[in-house]
Amino acid sequence: MLRGKNILLGITGGIAAYKTTFLVRLLIKAGASVKVVMTQSASSFVTPLTLATLSKHAVLLDFVNEEDGSLSWNNHVELGLWADLMVIAPATANTLSKMAHGTCDNLLLATYLSAKCPVFFAPAMDLDMYQHPSTKETFQKLQSFGNIMIPAESGELASGLHGEGRMAEPETIVAKLTAFISDGMPLKGKKVLITAGPTHEALDPVRFLGNHSTGTMGYRLAEWAAELGAEVILVSGPTNLEASHENITTINITSAQEMYDVVHQYFGTVDVAVAAAAVADYRPKTVSDQKIKKQEGDLSISMVRNPDILKSMGTQKKQQFLVGFALETENELENAKGKLQRKNLDAIILNSLNDPGAGFGSETNKIAFIDKNLNVKTFEVKTKAEVAIDIWKEIISRIHA
Ligand code: C5P
Repeated sequence: MLRGKNILLGITGGIAAYKTTFLVRLLIKAGASVKVVMTQSASSFVTPLTLATLSKHAVLLDFVNEEDGSLSWNNHVELGLWADLMVIAPATANTLSKMAHGTCDNLLLATYLSAKCPVFFAPAMDLDMYQHPSTKETFQKLQSFGNIMIPAESGELASGLHGEGRMAEPETIVAKLTAFISDGMPLKGKKVLITAGPTHEALDPVRFLGNHSTGTMGYRLAEWAAELGAEVILVSGPTNLEASHENITTINITSAQEMYDVVHQYFGTVDVAVAAAAVADYRPKTVSDQKIKKQEGDLSISMVRNPDILKSMGTQKKQQFLVGFALETENELENAKGKLQRKNLDAIILNSLNDPGAGFGSETNKIAFIDKNLNVKTFEVKTKAEVAIDIWKEIISRIHA
């Protein structure tokens, strides 16, 4: 999708600048032409020579350049017009604030102000800076100008702290640009319901039975559906994640029964439903009012079945395109196909726990997409963001068919 596109990469002075070497390589590999403009401070983190070698274009730092002993002028207007897309990554708090206010004290900012193309920015900063009200205001302001934010991710930061502020991975940035270029907004006007995360089934006021689902796959699906234009209702079990897109309404629930109730409140009105949640099949038969005290000997807990939310959506299905997940450990394809038919689905996504890089907790996944005619399409191990794009492509090709 990026083949033949001119991409202008603006690099500012943060430690994540070293990752732009990978970003340039990925963009070039995808067939794009890349030019780099960077701030002086960025050149302390990654050398212009490295980026010039990778991008096969001179890297631009200043309005004037010394070439062969003579001075030449780097034309920011020309650069701004050359680009089909501009990406500022990493985007520091300082540069973002200047962009929000129209400050123009270096070549990168002048080029940004001259750019007529869509501009993406991928912030990178420490977690407290990322959370600061002035930073949040900057993000809002830049988005209100039509710039597209590629949110930072959570993880270990250069400071040693742990939290939100890490620049999105180069693969994620490339995936965002690709989705933007590829289809525009194929889900515009569509309503999408997504379930995500685990459910917690209470035993007593302080204990529950749960599972290891982190919710990542469901959240990535929600974000991409929103990015592709859909209005998304995300029904989420307990996770540490937050969906930040304005088209996503998140409804937090705890138990399978609560998820069932919320899902059925919305199911009738949606065009697509994807059940990515790891719903507990059983819950304790009784929930003790008081903390269960330890006693001599063993403790047995009697369990009752939870409703199968996906199956009941399958029973009620009318216009909706209904997609489930199957996490299998044996006879994967056969089990997944059986589930698709039993639950009256339009498609099922198989993750096999036997595949390295697939399943719970990992940032990557390996899937097979099976449609109701039992056509099977298998994919390589990819990041969950990329998997989400693949899944939406498959769904979109079927709902628009
Ligand atoms: O039958 P199994 O639990 O393996 O099916 C998995 C699929 O069904 C997933 O899409 C999951 O979100 C959904 N499911 C559900 N309600 C349940 C159990 C599973 O929606 N109680």
